[in-house]
Amino acid sequence: MRKGSIVALLGLAVIAGGVATAVALVPTWLPKDASREAGRIDFTFWFVIAICIFIFAIVAAVMVYAVLRFRVQEDDFEDGPPIHGHTGLEITWTIIPFILVTSIAIVSAIVLSRNDAQAKDTLRVDVTAQQFTFTFSYPDAGNVTSPVLMLPKGRSVELYMRSLDVIHSVFVPQFSQKEDVVPGLVTQLHITPTRLGTFPLECTELCGLGHSLMRSQAVVMDPAAFDSWLKKQGKTAAPPSSTTTSTTSTTTTTSPSAAGLSVFNANGCSSCHTLSAANATGKVGPDLDNLVAYAKKANQPLEAFVHDSIVDPNAYIQPGYQKNVMPGTFGQSLTKSQLDAVVAFLVQSAQKSGNK
Ligand code: CUA
Repeated sequence: MRKGSIVALLGLAVIAGGVATAVALVPTWLPKDASREAGRIDFTFWFVIAICIFIFAIVAAVMVYAVLRFRVQEDDFEDGPPIHGHTGLEITWTIIPFILVTSIAIVSAIVLSRNDAQAKDTLRVDVTAQQFTFTFSYPDAGNVTSPVLMLPKGRSVELYMRSLDVIHSVFVPQFSQKEDVVPGLVTQLHITPTRLGTFPLECTELCGLGHSLMRSQAVVMDPAAFDSWLKKQGKTAAPPSSTTTSTTSTTTTTSPSAAGLSVFNANGCSSCHTLSAANATGKVGPDLDNLVAYAKKANQPLEAFVHDSIVDPNAYIQPGYQKNVMPGTFGQSLTKSQLDAVVAFLVQSAQKSGNK
């Protein structure tokens, strides 16, 4: 090879590598990290990107050089000279990819095992996914339940995730982690939040008509603030002498309608239904401000209609809506007192909006 062609090839490689590096570094492709695990995953990501840029630079340089230097004359229909085998070249193009791929495997294995390693005081959070909502509960704190994932900053947290119906997936971009939630399995995700703030938590597995609405939030709090939140929730979740208590309470009162409202919110009803009493604006299912009219149309007394529509959603389908969209699992997943509370709450608010 002539000295001139090596210089030309090197020059082209530097230009191609420079352009690719600028595309990789100048736009902000990734959100700002908010967990220790995210930092390690980003390292793996950039490690692979650097290898890709290196290979891209070589391939692009050789291609551009070949196109410019060996361009045929218009009337040249000859084949090139036959080349058979080049042991040195073959060994080179086997060894270099072997080293690169093996190094990616080693880096990934180290990152995965470190990311899964729990610290001693790991906080356990049980995640329940269902169409179309997430529920987070804290079994070490008397099963406090929340529609939002509350996390203490700096503490190791392990999510134990279950699905009541179809496959969902939990994703918080700032944590750089994503894990499927599969019916019949308990999948785990380990997070150590490092930054205070509120981050989007979304379902990233197409799970039905309300998939795009299956969103919640991850809130990272100061450990002290988290503890006092947990204590406060624990108190309202289990008052000793209330008959209408719901274990999913996130409110501070225990009146029947407040209990019903908290059941409504904790079970994600608002992601699909509109109900002004709950400030809900979901559009997947029927508008619950019109329950009086629906019951009349279904020819049923209001309370029985509301109860049956929750327990057996397919029994009556309001025209314009489809069967099998609302989960049929609420009859099992809600306790009797929760069911009674939410029915009472819906009947009450329906009568209010019906009288307007
Ligand atoms: Cu759950 Cu998409």
